[in-house]
Amino acid sequence: GMDAVLVSGGAGYIGSHVVKRLVEAGRPVVVMDNESTGHRETVRAVEALTGREIPYIPGDVGDGDGVRRIVEEYRVGAVMHFAAKSVVAESVRHPEVYFSENVAKGIAFFQALCEAGVSRIVLSSTAAVYGNPERVPIPEEHPVRPINPYGASKVMLEQVLGWLETTFPMRWVALRYFNAAGADPSGRLGERHDPETHLIPIVLEAALGRRERVTVFGTDYDTPDGTCIRDYIHVLDLADAHLEALAALEDGHPSAIFNVGTGLGHSVLEVIRMAEEVCGRTVPVELGARRPGDPPVLVADGGRLREIGWQPRYGLWEIVASAWAWHSGEGR
Ligand code: UFG
Repeated sequence: GMDAVLVSGGAGYIGSHVVKRLVEAGRPVVVMDNESTGHRETVRAVEALTGREIPYIPGDVGDGDGVRRIVEEYRVGAVMHFAAKSVVAESVRHPEVYFSENVAKGIAFFQALCEAGVSRIVLSSTAAVYGNPERVPIPEEHPVRPINPYGASKVMLEQVLGWLETTFPMRWVALRYFNAAGADPSGRLGERHDPETHLIPIVLEAALGRRERVTVFGTDYDTPDGTCIRDYIHVLDLADAHLEALAALEDGHPSAIFNVGTGLGHSVLEVIRMAEEVCGRTVPVELGARRPGDPPVLVADGGRLREIGWQPRYGLWEIVASAWAWHSGEGR
């Protein structure tokens, strides 16, 4: 039968949505997750939604022997590597953690995969590799100059894949996500971080009265309303990008780096207004100081990914509405 896809971090926010799409597409999938931020019930929820059993292994990508066993037992031919730490501010406080968890373990993972004969790897990367961009929208050729250890850790992994390809029969894609947001419309999967730092979950928690207010981090940026602009990409569109990337590799596409964004930017105040409209509630807002390290505008030039047949299907309304179904609902 078809080679299985090993999804590391498949119990996490983005990973679980991709697992659902892979299963729906009929791909054999095996999930591993060390449960540092993922939740195994999330994989159970995907099983319930798809009516399919999903092999799940609690384990760490840094465990080379464990990884090799999984590759052999499940006949893994391709890997999607989501497992990583991804909180920018935490990475600034604890660079050592980001280099050991993301980089050291990531390299051990890739080594085990290549030695075991895995020939296709899709890496979760980030727009944080661009640091403070010189121009927007940002094309993939833009210089890579991360301004925090999280972004630096992903640059390093992209470079490691580039070098591994020179000696192993392997090809890879790195997907540089812009602002991943939204949820499966079922309301059964969604974004759950502790503590939460992301704008949309924070705004919806405020709409629910679970937090007192949203603080807008900076109102004096050089943008139309003075607040930061981001390219919010629906997690379902992100999931599709992973399937397209894998299909491209399987069709013989050379290794590549793709931005994953819509090319459209929304300000913090626009997001808050959209949430008020979707929820039919008022979101208490406080105008605050800038958050250190926030670039004023991050918007993708997403042309390269469109060339392989992907295009985003959802906008800010669907993003906020689907996130609202999760935050307000039965999912938790
Ligand atoms: N914001 C607020 N108030 C909040 C939270 C966020 O005003 O309480 C603002 C931020 O200042 C920023 C925007 O909302 O302007 C989005 O902030 P997020 O924290 O949701 O997302 P970031 O753009 O900071 O970070 C995201 C990912 C990172 C990734 C980065 C790079 O979470 O992992 O994009 O593109 F590195």
